[in-house]
Formats: sequence, C-alpha cells, structure tokens
Amino acid sequence: MRKIFWISSVVLFVAGAASLALTAYLWFGDWPEDVKEIIDFERSVAETEHAQLTPLVMNIGSRSTMSLDGTWKALVDPNKSMLGRLFGVIARNAQPEGPSELLEFSFDNGQTLNVPGDWNTQDDRLYFYRGMVWYKRTFDYGFDFTKRSFLYFGAANYDASVYLNGKRVGRHVGGHTAFNFEVTGLLEDGENLLVVSVDNEHAAHDIPTPMTDWQNYGGLTRSVTLVHVPRTFLREYHVQLAKDDPKRIKGWVLLDGEYPSQKVKVSIPELGVETEVTTGSDGRAEIDFAATPQLWSPEEPKLYRVEITCNDDAVVDEIGFRTIEVSGTEIILNGESVFLRGISMHEEAGLGRGRVNAKEHADWLLGQAKELNANFIRYAHYPYSEVMTRAADRAGFLVWAEIPVYWNVDFENPYTQELGRRQLGEMIGRDRNRASVIFWSIANETPISDARNAFMQDMADTVRALDPTRLISAAILTGPEMLLTMLGSNVLPMAMGLDFLSAEEWVLRIDQDPLAEIVDVPALNEYFGWYYSTPLAAMSPISTYTARKTVIENMHRVRFKTVFEKPLIISEMGAGAKYGKHASEGELATFSEEYQAMVYREQLAMLEAQPQIRGLSPWILKDFRSPMRLYQGVQDYWNLKGLISDQGEKKLAFSVLRDHYAIRAARSAAKHPAEQALQ
Ligand code: GCU
Repeated sequence: MRKIFWISSVVLFVAGAASLALTAYLWFGDWPEDVKEIIDFERSVAETEHAQLTPLVMNIGSRSTMSLDGTWKALVDPNKSMLGRLFGVIARNAQPEGPSELLEFSFDNGQTLNVPGDWNTQDDRLYFYRGMVWYKRTFDYGFDFTKRSFLYFGAANYDASVYLNGKRVGRHVGGHTAFNFEVTGLLEDGENLLVVSVDNEHAAHDIPTPMTDWQNYGGLTRSVTLVHVPRTFLREYHVQLAKDDPKRIKGWVLLDGEYPSQKVKVSIPELGVETEVTTGSDGRAEIDFAATPQLWSPEEPKLYRVEITCNDDAVVDEIGFRTIEVSGTEIILNGESVFLRGISMHEEAGLGRGRVNAKEHADWLLGQAKELNANFIRYAHYPYSEVMTRAADRAGFLVWAEIPVYWNVDFENPYTQELGRRQLGEMIGRDRNRASVIFWSIANETPISDARNAFMQDMADTVRALDPTRLISAAILTGPEMLLTMLGSNVLPMAMGLDFLSAEEWVLRIDQDPLAEIVDVPALNEYFGWYYSTPLAAMSPISTYTARKTVIENMHRVRFKTVFEKPLIISEMGAGAKYGKHASEGELATFSEEYQAMVYREQLAMLEAQPQIRGLSPWILKDFRSPMRLYQGVQDYWNLKGLISDQGEKKLAFSVLRDHYAIRAARSAAKHPAEQALQ
C-alpha cells in the first residue's frame, strides 16, 4: 500500500511539474509564429474581455476616413461554435496548411452580407435569426506615423467582438450606439484582416431584453469606418447656446493625445465671431463667447458652419442654435411656448428595406412626417443613426431620442444599470451638438417597482450629469393600476346603461407613477379605442363590441391628470389598420382603415381639450416588422398601427392627423398671444 502511495505521488508530481513547464513554455516559450499567434490571440481575448472602449471620436464625417462598407464575407454560426473560437481560428481566418489539416470553417465559397445592413432583410433564412454571425473583410493600409487610427462602428446589434490581424481589439454590447477602438498599434502596412463577430441574441439582463415589439435586426447595421486623426486631436466638443443667456455660446472642447494643453479656436465665420481658449493638462477647456445667431426652429432650421481648430487638428460641424426648457406646463423653444405636433417612428427604412443606413432612407421617412405637418418626431425606442439626427437638424424636426429600457428590464442587476449608463453616454456623446434633439428619454412602459424607480432615478441623474441643457422624458405605461379603476368605475356602468354611475370626466392620474416626478416632461402611452375594450369585455358581461362602442362614443370624457406642474406629452396613441382593408364605421371593425381614422378623430378632439398636453407622438408613422404580430393574413409579423403602409401607401387616418396638425400649425403661425395659449 505504502509503495503504491509513493509511486502515485511521484507520478503526480512529475505530471504536475510537466504541465507547469508546458504552460510556462506556452506563455513564455519561443513557439513557431502561428502558434505564437494563437497564444497572442488567446492572450488578447483575455486582456480585452473587459477592456475600456475608447471614448467616442466625435463627428467622424469631418475627418479623414476610409470606409469599410461594402460586401463582406459572412459565416452564420448558430452555436457560437466553440470549435471556431478555439485558438481563434475564425478570428484569425486560419488557413489549412495542407490536406491533412482539419479546419471546420471557411469564409470563402459561402455567405456574403452587405455592410451597413441588417442580415434579416438580406437573406430569408436569416429573417428571424437570433444568434451569431462572423463578418470578415481585408483592407489595405499605408502606414502614417503622424496619425492615430480608430475602427469606428456606427452600430452593431447587439454583442460585437472585433479582431484585427488576428488580435482581439475589443468587445461592445449594445445594438444602437456608435463605438470605436483605437487600432493605431495593430494596423499593418499593406493588407489588414478585419473579423467581427456579431450576436443579436439578448438575455434578461440586456437592454433591451429579448421581448420587443420590433424586429431584432442583427448585424453590422451601420457603417464601419477607419478614422485617422493627428496624434493629438479634438476628440469631443459641446457648442450650444447658453441655457441662461441666448446671446452667449457656451460649451467646451476636449483634446486627446500627447500634447493635451494647446490653443483651440472656435469660430463661426457667418456670424463673424470666434474665441480662442487654452486647454488644460486634461485636454479640456470651457468656451463662453457672445453671439447672436438666428435661432434654429422647425420653421427655420438654420445651421451654422462651426470651425474648431488646434495645432494639428481641425473639424467642421453644421450646428443649429436654439434654447429648450420647460416653464410650468409649457415647453419653451427659443423663449416661446411650442406645441409638439409629433409622430412616433421606428428606424426602419420602408419599401421592404430593413434598418435605415443611408441618407435617402432618412429623407424618405422625414418627408412623410413633413407631409403630416409634424414638427416633432419620437425616435422610438433606441438611439438612431447619425444620419437620422443630422437629417432632423436639416429638415427642422424636434427629436425625442431614447435608450431601449423597454418594458421589464432587469432593474436590480448592476450589470444592466451599467449598460444603461453606457448607452446614455454613447447616445449623448455622439449627438450633444444636434439642435433637433430636445429630449433624452430614459424608458418606455416600465412597470412600477422600487428597483425600477431607483434605476430610473439613476438614469435621470446620469443624463443630468452628461447634458443639463436638454429635457428628460420617459414614456409611462397606462398600467393596470391606472386603467382598471377608470374602466371599471366609468366605462362599465356606461356600457351597461347605468350612465348615472359614470363620472362626467373619466380621469386617469399619471402621477400614480413616481417616474412622472423624476423626469422634466412626463409622457404617457395610452390606447383608448384600441386595446382596452377586449380586457373590459373579458372582465364583464358586456360584449367587446359594446365595450368598444362605449369607449369610442365617450372618448371626449377621458382626461389625463397630474399634480405636477409639468407639460404632458402623449407619446403613444393609435390603432391598427391594414392598408386597403375597409368596413363601415358602424362595424367598428379592427384593422379597417375607417376604424383607425375614427380612433384618431376621437382621440385628437379629446386631447385638444386638455391644455396641459403640450405634445403628441401618435403610434406610429409607418407599419413596421414585429415578431409579436401573429395574425396571419392580416399582420403577418407586421405591426399595422402605421398611418402609412411599409410601401408608403397612406391610410385614411393619415389625412385626419395631417389636417389636425395643419390647423394647429396655422394657429401657432398666427402667433396671436391669446391663440398662442390655445395652440
Ligand atoms: C406599446 C409599445 C410599442 C408597441 C405599441 C403597440 O405601447 O411602446 O413599442 O409597438 O405599444 O402595441 O403597438
């Protein structure tokens, strides 16, 4: 027995020592190049797992860049294959040395995908695909030691890992915000290999969660660009009218590089004004100078060429100057109360296309909104591309920008909280100079709970710290707590012919939700005329038809109230209709154009009677894809609440809203003080 003990402990010791030696040799040994590459790759994965993303380079449109858009090789990897990730063979696009080599992947002879673009509309097999896809391309680069280089992604939905020349550069989680990595030291003179894995699967701790009423478009959905900047460059700037004095431009500039302290000049040639500041050792300097620009507004979206220069760097931007604030229950744009004649939308290009990724897509969508006489657009439910925010600057739309804290995210999870903060940082960081953006929205229809309220407070604090110049909002859910009392005590008696039991006004109190206190402008999603009749009928002896008829005929009684002296926005209201489906009004036929138009007429009259409501963004401009809409033959995975079909065909309700907004626009144009209050 003793003998066996000794022999086995000697064997174990030798084995342990051998593997220790092997590991040391693996890490520090002098291995053939390709094996070193593998080791380096594994090391780079380990090192970059939680690597800091490089802070965003602002306004890449004004920089020297190389577009990496085009047709990329692609590899659909439903199992996120361990084999492919073992030793980084896919990330390094390892090639077989000879016939005896066993490699079970290849980028060649197979799938290709356009970048920018979602994969769902490029290949029917990927229409509902949730999983990983590898992208690969090569590009030539000529060394320039005077420059630093960044790989800039407009967005990648959802979890992207980036590999350059077989080394892992970094990872980004979040599907709708721009991110970049500095690759100065990783670029090679000549051909470079770029591989990106993108996984659009979401988990419960993600933002958003897997449950969304929109298509989970996966892939490199926005442009990929190699950006070159001087060794010390102007990384970020904020140039806007001072919140407290519209005759001054206030903000800051931030340099990044070896010589952070430099003279920086900010000039607006058209106004003949400029200022020169010296940045500190942190590369930052405040700017504050007198200027009286023509103010940007939807009616006159005036943009100014702004030039910012320092020793080695210069950027040019097109910036509009306006002020936005709240005063009591008014929203004040450039010192005047404004009514937001809005519409909600998704960042879907229409005409059968997927995600917006080109200027013409943006112009088509905004053109439709212009026809509606809208001056405000809710960019629901996630940060849109820079193409869309710059288009709104040019076209003259006030914009609500939002992070996808949508329905029930994991409010108690610190990981989710950090993700929310980062998405806010990336959204605000890119668009802080866009005059069109007046709202940062921190949530949509999130159920009330202590954890949720704390999460929301943290989101609001994050926004206020990053950008105190804009308004914070969030779309509050007309939740069961609010609705049941109202429906039960008013609609039901009325539907049962006991009118005397129903109140004159059917009041819904928004202040039941603590979020209404946290934000500057509370917004409400309400669907009177569409969703509430079915649960009402289900809970009572009345039929759905009677319930729907009662709601429609008494819509004028509905009132939204809050104790808060704040303006209210109706961020969603509407009804579904399949373009071309018709029925008589009396039938109250869901998905008929007539019924949708009727809901709009009744809703708009009801909302107009409530002066505290200072804006609307009905749901929604265009029908959009959604994996939740299963009514075959009618919805077929489309949410049909659009005022236009995906092909741009206008439904009857389009003109109802258009004409309503025309009247409101004429009223505000008349600028008659008395009427101003009514607009
Ligand atoms: C919700 C939600 C939207 C959704 C809409 C609908 O309010 O915010 O994302 O598409 O209702 O039901 O159509």
